[in-house]
Amino acid sequence: MKILNFGSCNIDYVYSLDHIVSPGETETTYKMETFSGGKGLNQSIAVAKAGAKIFHAGCIGEGGQMLEDMMKSSGVDTTYIKKVPEKNGHAIIQVTAKGENSIFLYPGSNAMVEKDYIDSVLADFSENDILLLQNEISNIDYIVEKAYEKGMCIILNPSPFNDEIKKIDFNMLSYIILNEVEAKAVSGSEDAKESLAFFQKHYPDLKVMLTLGGRGCIYKDTEIEASQEIFPVEVVDTTAAGDTFTGYFIAGIASGDDTKEILKTATMASAIAVSREGAAPSIPEKCEVLKAISDMEKAND
Ligand code: RIB
Repeated sequence: MKILNFGSCNIDYVYSLDHIVSPGETETTYKMETFSGGKGLNQSIAVAKAGAKIFHAGCIGEGGQMLEDMMKSSGVDTTYIKKVPEKNGHAIIQVTAKGENSIFLYPGSNAMVEKDYIDSVLADFSENDILLLQNEISNIDYIVEKAYEKGMCIILNPSPFNDEIKKIDFNMLSYIILNEVEAKAVSGSEDAKESLAFFQKHYPDLKVMLTLGGRGCIYKDTEIEASQEIFPVEVVDTTAAGDTFTGYFIAGIASGDDTKEILKTATMASAIAVSREGAAPSIPEKCEVLKAISDMEKAND
């Protein structure tokens, strides 16, 4: 069984400032850094750091070579990356001293994922291989349809949520990994239990991983319901916390690990990411995550 992530690769320009800029306001920032990012890239790196083999497909544009280099050095297989003559996709990220962030995206190269490229990548994957997707590249509905025809296990992280997500038939998905905002956009409810009930009613076979920010996470499928509280840390930058969780979750299910253990490991990985600056560079190695869990459990004994 192989894992393929068809996803974005962004250059993140991160500006540190006192508060997120409001409409009409000008604010002077006190630090600016450039990091590798993009939900796709972050999640591929998290899967690799969690110990699973992953292939990343997606487009890299002008100025984006550092993104491929970062993936390679983190253990991601970049064989399927396509180079395109377009500015690389990028994100402008504001981060406050409290670790809150605000992001806007320029899709650039990420909007150049075309159908013939998708077909050529998917030709190398087959039934039961895992396909991971987010919503930062073009043609995700086409990717879902083609992967479903092949019988792949499709895992969607519908982030950021917009009308592109509404083109996807959720009956074709095996898993959905989403936060409360995205769950509300699908189910219409702000309440986690109501959202889970919505998915159970309308998509009974869909396995749902719902993250609840500071209140932890809940996983539910037809047989199992499991939850995990967060591990409190000093918040430095929440960027890529969700991506770290998703990558560790996917590595866990690919290895057939126990659900409760997967949630614990993914939650600790995400906590470590929150305590560090940047997107991809904040994602911890599995050994760091396991040590942090072991230290915490010893301290609680
Ligand atoms: O999830 C975090 C990511 O969202 C950032 O790395 C940024 O590139 C945006 O895509």
